[in-house]
Amino acid sequence: MSIGKNIKHDSSLAHVTGESIFIDDREALASEVFVGVVGSPVACGTLKKIYSQKALEYPTCLAVYTAKDLVVKKWGAIVHDQPLLVEEEIGYIGEPICIFACSNRYDLEEIKKLFTFDILAKEGVFTLEEALKKNNLLYAAPKPFVQGDIKKGFEESEYILEGSFYSGGQEHFYMESQASVAYPMENGQIEVHSSSQHPSETQRLVAEALGLSFQQVVCIVKRLGGGFGGKESQAAPIAVYAALVASKFNRAARLILTKDEDMKITGKRHPFYSEYKVGFSNEGLINALKVKLNADAGAYLDLSSSILERAMFHADGAYYLQNVHIEGRAFKTNNASNTAYRGFGGPQGNMVVESILEDIALFLKKDSFDIRRLNIYQNKNTKTPYGQDLENNMLPALFDKVLISSDYKKRLTQIEHWNNKKYGSLKGISITAVKFGIAFTARFLNQGSALVNLHLDGSLQVSTGAIEMGQGINTKLGQIVAHCFGVSCDVVQVMTTSTEKNHNTSPTAASSGSDINGAAALQASNQIKARLTKLAQLIFKNEISDDLNEFELGDSNLSGDIVFVDGQVKEISSGKKLSLKELIQMAYFNRVSLGGYSFYKTPEVGFSKETVEGKAFNYYTQGVAVSEVIVDEYTGEVKVTGTDILMDLGRPLNPGIDKGQTTGAFIQGMGWVTTEKLVYDNKGNLLTHSPTTYKIPNIQDTPRTFNVDFICNEDNQCNVHRSKAVGEPPFLLGISVWTAIKHALSFRNIKNINSELTSPATNETVLVELMRLKGV
Ligand code: MTE
Ligand code: HPA
Ligand code: MOS
Repeated sequence: MSIGKNIKHDSSLAHVTGESIFIDDREALASEVFVGVVGSPVACGTLKKIYSQKALEYPTCLAVYTAKDLVVKKWGAIVHDQPLLVEEEIGYIGEPICIFACSNRYDLEEIKKLFTFDILAKEGVFTLEEALKKNNLLYAAPKPFVQGDIKKGFEESEYILEGSFYSGGQEHFYMESQASVAYPMENGQIEVHSSSQHPSETQRLVAEALGLSFQQVVCIVKRLGGGFGGKESQAAPIAVYAALVASKFNRAARLILTKDEDMKITGKRHPFYSEYKVGFSNEGLINALKVKLNADAGAYLDLSSSILERAMFHADGAYYLQNVHIEGRAFKTNNASNTAYRGFGGPQGNMVVESILEDIALFLKKDSFDIRRLNIYQNKNTKTPYGQDLENNMLPALFDKVLISSDYKKRLTQIEHWNNKKYGSLKGISITAVKFGIAFTARFLNQGSALVNLHLDGSLQVSTGAIEMGQGINTKLGQIVAHCFGVSCDVVQVMTTSTEKNHNTSPTAASSGSDINGAAALQASNQIKARLTKLAQLIFKNEISDDLNEFELGDSNLSGDIVFVDGQVKEISSGKKLSLKELIQMAYFNRVSLGGYSFYKTPEVGFSKETVEGKAFNYYTQGVAVSEVIVDEYTGEVKVTGTDILMDLGRPLNPGIDKGQTTGAFIQGMGWVTTEKLVYDNKGNLLTHSPTTYKIPNIQDTPRTFNVDFICNEDNQCNVHRSKAVGEPPFLLGISVWTAIKHALSFRNIKNINSELTSPATNETVLVELMRLKGV
């Protein structure tokens, strides 16, 4: 049986050999044209005129299109506030103004240089600081999350700390840039192949922009070379540009952003600036916490309101706050419109409270592990700031286990010794925790469907709305279907995702891809299995007649007496058996359906931000990480010497893949809080738009000792095969590297002042903070 097994990723070999097909690996048709996007040279202003004559004179430039060529001109994941192509007002540098078609892809860059514009430029707003000062409010959460009595909480606190905390943006750095190829079909139909996490949204936007009905557009997604949230909303306009050219020319059209272009013009993780006030006791127990979260939304709303909300949902981190007040606002700036990124605001919310806890420990001169252990949700205190009870709480067990397995206390003593003895390098150690809410907070997105075909040779195909972006969802779906029929995974093919097989799908996001699509695939498989079970019972009883359609073969006939194992179907009571293949043949010739289609919706979830009521999450994925760092006192260089991660993933569907996800997410989180710094000039130009200047972690940056382990949790009932989602939660554990740096620096706090470390803690940031603490 394949559930819980380390089945290898279905594309692992092909990724390494280069055989995996991404958008730009599709062979170009002889008549294919290439699409170039021309962006605004300024961040803010009014567009008066586009000069495209020079471009059109270029021999391979075939046509130029502007907003005038679009039927619906605006888009947006939540509110349609963002121009597909600028009509008048410009929101950020590189914002698409027009697109052009070209017969030679190698001329694209030359032609882009030939466009000029008449623009009435205005002063832009580029930082949260300025946006707050100017009160450029774009969206405010309708109500704060409030529990207890915050005023009383502060009054009863022995100590109060007030401060602010800044965390920076982050480039997605997927390997495959935004990409799309569109093919014109008969009767005005369009087939778009897109590198999109949300094919249904892409289908709808293409149809609207081109004035087609939704049935005329099919969006197909084979796989993504990484998405990380960056292709949840922002893949759709790219597909529109390709589809527009394809429909105008009646030729296939391809649009592949260059890496630099992609980095400059697509949205990133939201930078956050948060203000807080915390009251706590002598022991370090938080009595009251007030947090104001401020997000830099960029030029348009995109998913910012949802992201802000998830930040609010995660401002408690893993800690019980009896008196709490959390509010959130998103501000408009003239940066590219920020968007979903692994964790979806959760990391930004969570990091504030982890920073605060580290500060409390330093203030009280106590061990931060003990302070955190004291504050986590205990089994008596499980109410979150938004009223949901934390069920199946594994936090105490996770803390207690990792304390032992990481040998934390001994290492802490060694570190204190090291830092007091030596000069030149500082060590630090810290634990942080994650309690990540699983479900889309927009209730309607918690739905999915699956189509399963059982073929006469016993092989299976499964199609869902899920997108494979490296996270291994296809492997997990294959396991679920194979397990259901008692066959091996190589008998099951997960098919290319397409909006004609599964309609009105949700994005593969919120880590819930395998929860939703896996559950739907299991239901669809069970439909077929129920019919086959009934048929097998009849065969074993010798009651088979000419036409089985007379029998009620459908509804829930999954009898425990009939089992599907190792390609066989057995009746336990009688000991009779036949091969699955034989049974399928019998079914076919007796006109029994061998197809399943099922719809799944996550039960019970639904939270209203207007009333702050309802169940926001289906369940929580939890975990802890202990990280140890060494900081060079002369250069600020940081090395992670060791990390111990312990996660609760229920019963993992595929521990090997989940280990990969945990490792990758942690490293990506670590990059966010250490080296990945976005630098802009004072006009809003992104200077760090290539790997030469934007530093993601490489293999040498990974923790020298890296232990990733899962706790055994048999009590989680609420998800497919009792598994838990893994995609985003471990990202938040990267924060432990940052708090460990904070711990290390505290050993040189000669001036006895509060830490002002921001994120990312780059070498420069670390060095400057170290000098400030030393009073140099
Ligand atoms: N893993 C890889 N290799 N590539 C990705 O793009 N995206 C992450 C995560 N893991 C991603 C990834 C994000 S942002 C999410 S929401 C989940 O995968 C989505 O997939 P799932 O719901 O199947 O976990
Ligand atoms: N998470 C990720 N993506 C989303 C969500 C969410 O909660 N809501 C809408 N898109
Ligand atoms: Mo992930 S940020 O929900 O795509």
